[in-house]
Amino acid sequence: MPRYVIDERKLRGNLEVLKGVSDRTGVKILLAQKAFSCAATYPLCANYLAGTTASSLFEARHGHDNFGGETHVFAPAFNLDEMDELLSLVDHIVFNSPRQVGKFGKMAKAKGVSVGLRVNPEVSVATTPAYDPCRPSSRLGTRLVDLKASLSAADSQLSTLEGLHFHCLCEQGLDELKKVLTGFEEKFGFLLAQMKWVNFGGGHHITRDGYDVEGLVSMLNGFRARHPHLEVYLEPGEAVALNAGTLEARVLEIQPKGEDGIANAILDVSAACHMPDVLEMPYTPRVVGTGGSKFSYRFGGPTCLAGDEIGTYAFDHPLAEGDQVVFEDMAIYSMVKNNTFNGLNLPDIAIRRDDGSVETLRTFGYDDFASRLG
Ligand SMILES: Cc1ncc(COP(=O)(O)O)c(C=O)c1O
Repeated sequence: MPRYVIDERKLRGNLEVLKGVSDRTGVKILLAQKAFSCAATYPLCANYLAGTTASSLFEARHGHDNFGGETHVFAPAFNLDEMDELLSLVDHIVFNSPRQVGKFGKMAKAKGVSVGLRVNPEVSVATTPAYDPCRPSSRLGTRLVDLKASLSAADSQLSTLEGLHFHCLCEQGLDELKKVLTGFEEKFGFLLAQMKWVNFGGGHHITRDGYDVEGLVSMLNGFRARHPHLEVYLEPGEAVALNAGTLEARVLEIQPKGEDGIANAILDVSAACHMPDVLEMPYTPRVVGTGGSKFSYRFGGPTCLAGDEIGTYAFDHPLAEGDQVVFEDMAIYSMVKNNTFNGLNLPDIAIRRDDGSVETLRTFGYDDFASRLG
């Protein structure tokens, strides 16, 4: 059976880096659960982070019930049917538009929930349009022009506002954050005196090798010195569990070489089902033991989808049926996005403890496939 294996030691290493940033700046760091939501690791994470952020009612409940600390939520639009329950779970709610603030802000305030607005600094730094919330005609965040129109309306909908939120980065470093922050302060700085907090969103690749952590600390301290009354939040997802897990698979079948001289190797994992970002982003995940030159294989999944290809990898030795293939950096945006297309089972979820022992947290079966299909 294939399995995701979360590496507790690497997870803790990332958490220590993030806590170091919090301790030296007073900035609160939240786990963005959209990237990584393994509740079994939440007691560990909660020793290092201030809480969680959610994109929905279910994620909010998951963070509230399993993690504790602060629970925040943002969505492009909220559903009235879910609002009472959502407000009973969260400490901060971030709305996407003045209209949403007007619709729900008073309800939130009455329940003691702090109200924020996501703004769009219109500084495009993400390299892929699908991951660029500042792309033209984006539906994510309020542009300055729309905010100003709302502020000048007689019945301003923004009386309940206590915080501003922006999220513009995707796997990026300090230089991009500085560009975005400059744009944010130039455009929205006039509002900051009235706010209690600012949330810098996610996409900060703080735990990757070479990230300028010292630079981040001094930039955050600089921001806090300019705005001492503001609480500052970061909400990374990837950075929490970056390189902190693998997906272990096996070779089911090796086909004869194709027209391009490369053999297809069919694995027991699928890009479409078990690592959808490989197709959506798209990217080619790293595999342990590759980098040779003699034997090349194109890895593909066992589904019917012609495009269910993971990438082409070269080894110094030939692969055989039954060989293990280990994909790296598979704790993030994997378990949270996987699916059972074609009736494929979901990989087990396991954790490698500090002493090297591997404990299975969860297995899946036919019922998990069938039970949600009606
Ligand atoms: C609003 C918001 N916050 C946080 C994140 C987490 O981003 P990442 O996992 O890249 O750090 C995202 C990702 O899309 C997001 O949309």
